[in-house]
Amino acid sequence: MKKVLAVNASPRKKWNTAMALESALEGAASAGAGTKLIHLMGLRFSGCVSCFACKRHENNAALCAVKDDLRPVLEEAMASDVVLVGSPVYFGNLDAFAIAFLERLLFMNYTYSMEHPSKLDRKIASGLILTMNATDDLLEPLGYNRLFSHYASTMGRVLLGPSEYLAVTDTLQFTDYSKYMSSIFDPAHKKRMREEKFPADLEKCRALGRRLALA
Ligand SMILES: Cc1cc2nc3c(=O)[nH]c(=O)nc-3n(C[C@H](O)[C@H](O)[C@H](O)COP(=O)(O)O)c2cc1C
Repeated sequence: MKKVLAVNASPRKKWNTAMALESALEGAASAGAGTKLIHLMGLRFSGCVSCFACKRHENNAALCAVKDDLRPVLEEAMASDVVLVGSPVYFGNLDAFAIAFLERLLFMNYTYSMEHPSKLDRKIASGLILTMNATDDLLEPLGYNRLFSHYASTMGRVLLGPSEYLAVTDTLQFTDYSKYMSSIFDPAHKKRMREEKFPADLEKCRALGRRLALA
C-alpha cells in the first residue's frame, strides 16, 4: 500500500490549507493509499542550519542532523511514497513553516555530487498546494506561477518522483470580515467564492492526491 503524507504548513489547523490537504488525502485514499496529515503548527523547529552533516561521506543515508521537532516529520516523509505540502501564501511566498520544512527535507537529500543529484534510491512523488487571497488572473502577472513551479521542480529534482503544484485562489480569510480592517475585500464576493469556487478547488485537490498516489 502506498503511503501518502500531507504536511500542513498553515498555522491554522482547520482552515483553507488544512481543508485542501484533507481533500488531497481523500483523493489518495480513494486510490487505495494509506494517508497521514501532520500540522507543523505547534512544533518547534528551524530551517536548515548549514551544518553540512548531511553532506559528509559517512552520513550518506542519514537524516538531517538537527534534533528538533521536525525530525519525526522528516522520518515520516522519508518513509512515504508521496509527500504533499500545503502552504498559505504570505507576502508573495510560501510561509515560513513551509520554507523551513522544505529546506530541511530537500537539503538532506540533495547532493553536490555530479553522479547523483539525490541521495534517494527510490522516487518520492510530491505535491505543493498553495492557498491565497490572490485571484487566478494574478497568478501569472505577479510571478506566482514561476515561484510555485520553481518549488515544485526543485522537489521533483531532489525527490526524484513526479511533482506538481496547485493554486487555491481567492480564499475566505475571515468568517466575519466586518470585524477586521479589511476594506480591500468584498465580503459578499468572498462568501460567494467560498460557496461556489472553493468546493471546485477541493475537488482539484482530491484529483491531485489521487493522481500522485497512482503515480
Ligand atoms: C501574514 C500573511 C500574509 C499574507 N500574504 C498574502 C499574499 O502576499 N498574497 C495572498 O494572496 N494572500 C496572502 N495572505 C492570505 C493567505 O494566503 C490566505 O488567506 C490563505 O488562504 C490562508 O490560509 P489558511 O486559511 O490555511 O490559514 C496572507 C495572510 C497572512 C496571515
